[in-house]
Order: sequence, then structure tokens, then C-alpha cells
Amino acid sequence: MTTELTGGVYWVGAVDWNLRDFHGYITPKGGTYNAYLIVDEKIALVDTVKNAFAGEMLGRIKEIIDPSKIDYVVSNHVEIDHSGSLPEIMKLTPGAQVISTEKGKEGLLRYYQKNWNFRTVKTGDELKLGKRTLFFITVPMLHWPDSMATYIKEDRILLSNDMFGQHIASSFRFDDEALESDCDVVMEETARYYANILMQFGVLILKKLEEFQKLGIEPAMIAPSHGVIWKNPEKIIGAYRKWANGFSKEKAVIIYDTMWNSTEMMAGEILKGISNSGVEVSLFHLRRNEWSEIVKEVLEARAVLIGTPTLHNDMFPQVSGFLTYLMGFKPMNKFWATFGSYGWAGGGVKGVNERLKASGYEISDSLEVRFRPDEQDMEKCRALGERTAALVKG
Ligand code: FEO
Repeated sequence: MTTELTGGVYWVGAVDWNLRDFHGYITPKGGTYNAYLIVDEKIALVDTVKNAFAGEMLGRIKEIIDPSKIDYVVSNHVEIDHSGSLPEIMKLTPGAQVISTEKGKEGLLRYYQKNWNFRTVKTGDELKLGKRTLFFITVPMLHWPDSMATYIKEDRILLSNDMFGQHIASSFRFDDEALESDCDVVMEETARYYANILMQFGVLILKKLEEFQKLGIEPAMIAPSHGVIWKNPEKIIGAYRKWANGFSKEKAVIIYDTMWNSTEMMAGEILKGISNSGVEVSLFHLRRNEWSEIVKEVLEARAVLIGTPTLHNDMFPQVSGFLTYLMGFKPMNKFWATFGSYGWAGGGVKGVNERLKASGYEISDSLEVRFRPDEQDMEKCRALGERTAALVKG
């Protein structure tokens, strides 16, 4: 079934109900790949879908028009969840012009090795379809250097590609169709998506939102390439503005791994110290929790505590791997504390401290215990928790 955003503008994407892993992070609710068809005097398809879903997209297009009538295929982003079905579409309409940024063309040529009828665009370029005008805006790094967005000027619909998306498979296409309980799920998945894909680009996002205003882009609807279409753009723009500004709340996250439970015992006592001080706190064992879920929890946390045992005079490998993942997102406005244990020689906590310092973070507190924490050590852990809670409360 097709969905009309407004007269002549259709969602013709695909729903991936069984998607559980999106290039390395969990997608417990599945996902969608959104493509949009604009039928005017000329016909434009904006983005396609992952290749395995080409048939589903073509079926939707065929309910509206003959695909051979498509005049323009706009490729907002090269990544193959959006460009993967370009070859199938171009076989049906080989004369269509493929519109992308210069970098987009470079990527499409590398991926598909086809000398399609390309036209490259930059911010401010327009394409007249008839009554409607497509206005292009580059959005580099949101999500790749090639990315751009397409704005349907007359309808004030922003086809934003990855920006403002979330991975959720649903039978509803619009935010206002979600039941009240589903609204929370949509925002939770939006936070997971932002944290695991865009968190490091907060500065760019704020600049881009400013640029949108200067260009007169005031969308009445935001239609991303994943998840729901926002009839209430202020809700998602507000959330992005908040996260991009480094919003945090009175919350701490304890992230650790453990060999013989000593670091785990410390984590539990630190949690007591924070919780007894009236601050919300969550605890994650790195081998029992999915990392993208932990990163989502870090997004709005004001304090992050990293715990590690010592192995080969350094931090535990899982802690090192997680820090590599987390540091890539450049989390902002956090207090950082570290803790851990060792047997014959230390080095685990020192390794974490050095890794955090190398990423430009200050460490507010640090505690290392030999073998098993005794009652005095447990008291020190609770005190560390209390000091962290005091920082969080400001
Ligand atoms: Fe949804 Fe960057 O691809």
C-alpha cells in the first residue's frame, strides 16, 4: 500500500520487520528504508531502498505510475540502504537523470560502475518539476560526506535522508499515527539512532539548523529515510537541538567488565553511593549488554563511570573495545570517573585514564583495588559514588 504525504507526494519505501543489526548496532524494533515519489509534470524518485527490498519499492511505485516514466532519481546519500536499488530502477528508466552531490556521484560510480546520466548539485540548486520545485541542501557528515537533503518548496516537505530518522518498523508512517505508548518508543529509537550515528556531529547539526533558517527552510513536514514522517517537525528539531547542545540530566551510567567479580563488586557499591544520594543511575556489564544500547544511555547521562579489571598491565580488552567505540562519538558535558581491580600488578585503571585523557576528558575520580575489595574498599566505592552524585547535582 502506498502512502500520500500530500497530493502527488508518496512514500514508496520498504519495511524491514526483521532487521536486528544495522551495520553493527542493534535494531530491536526493525527498520524502514523510505523512498519518496513526486508526481508532477515531471516525475522524481527521491532515494531508493536496500537492494533486497527493491521489489517491494517497485510494487509501490507501480501502484502509482509506470516506473519507466520517472524523469529524475535523486540520490541524497550513497550508503547502500538508500542507493541499493538504484540499479533496478535505472534498468526500468535508463534515461532518467541521477541527481546527487559531487561526492555522491563519486560514491555511486564506485559502488555501481554505471555511467548513468548524472547531474551534480550543491546547496541552493533547484529543479523545477512543474508546479513543484526541488531545492537541494548539502548536509555533509549527516551522515556521510556525500549527504544532502531535498526540500519540496511549495509543500514545505524536507526529505532529510538520515538526519531525523530512527530505526523502527511499523504499520504507521506518520508520527501522529503512533499510539501514545508508541510515541515513547519512537523517541527512544530516535535517541538510539542519534547517539549511535550522529552524536559526534552536534556542532554541524546546530550550524545546519541555522543554515536551514537562513535559507528559508521551515518544513511543515520532515520525511527522513528511516522511520516515521514527522508532521510535527518541532518535536524532532527540538530533540536534535537539545542533544546537539550536549543536554544532560541528573543521571549516571556505570559501565564495566569483570574477571573474578572484584570490579563488579566495586560497581555495585558505587551504584549504591550514587543511588542513595538520590541520583538516577544505570549499570551495564559490557559482555551482557549491547554496546549501542549503552551509548544511547550515555547520550543524556551527566556522569559516566568506567570500570575495568587488569589484564597484561592494561585495561580489559572489552573495555578497550568499548572505549574505542564510545570515544568516536565524542560525548559532551560529562563527568568521568574510573575504577577497577588488579591482582599482582596494576595498570587497568591507568589504561582507562590514559585513554580518556587522550580524548580530551578530565577524570573527576579514580579508584583501584587489589584482588578483592574489603570493607574499607567498599566504603571508598560508596564514597566515590556519593562524590559523583554531588557533581551530577551540581
Ligand atoms: Fe541510512 Fe547513512 O545510511
